[in-house]
Amino acid sequence: MDRVQRVGISLESDLLRQFDAFISGQGYSSRSEAVRDLIRDRLTQDRLGEPQTEAIAGVFVVYDHHQAQLAQKLIKLQHSHLLKTISSMHVHIGHHECLEVILLRGKVSEISNLGDRIISLKGVKSGKINLIAAAE
Ligand code: NI
Repeated sequence: MDRVQRVGISLESDLLRQFDAFISGQGYSSRSEAVRDLIRDRLTQDRLGEPQTEAIAGVFVVYDHHQAQLAQKLIKLQHSHLLKTISSMHVHIGHHECLEVILLRGKVSEISNLGDRIISLKGVKSGKINLIAAAE
């Protein structure tokens, strides 16, 4: 762990009150830990905003497995982008509906491109790309 340095910050009392209520609701036991997490999260979000950043993402899609050839198209897309697909998981969530979670790794721009192609497949009812972390 890096050497820890102490810093002091000044906040308006109303802002501090809101912050304390927020971190208490989140389960933080100290302001320092909450501030560290908020700073890390903000810096990560900033890096994930850059198209060239290496990242990991989870693509979530819900679809009807009766939809003709959608499952095959999902598999085909992943095979054609092998190096970007880390893993995938399929969950049968109803009589007709399936949830697929596909973990991708690559540049933010590549992940967005592949994720958008997956979500826009005909038959996908809902989909979301969650950029989770900047890769080391
Ligand atoms: Ni299924």
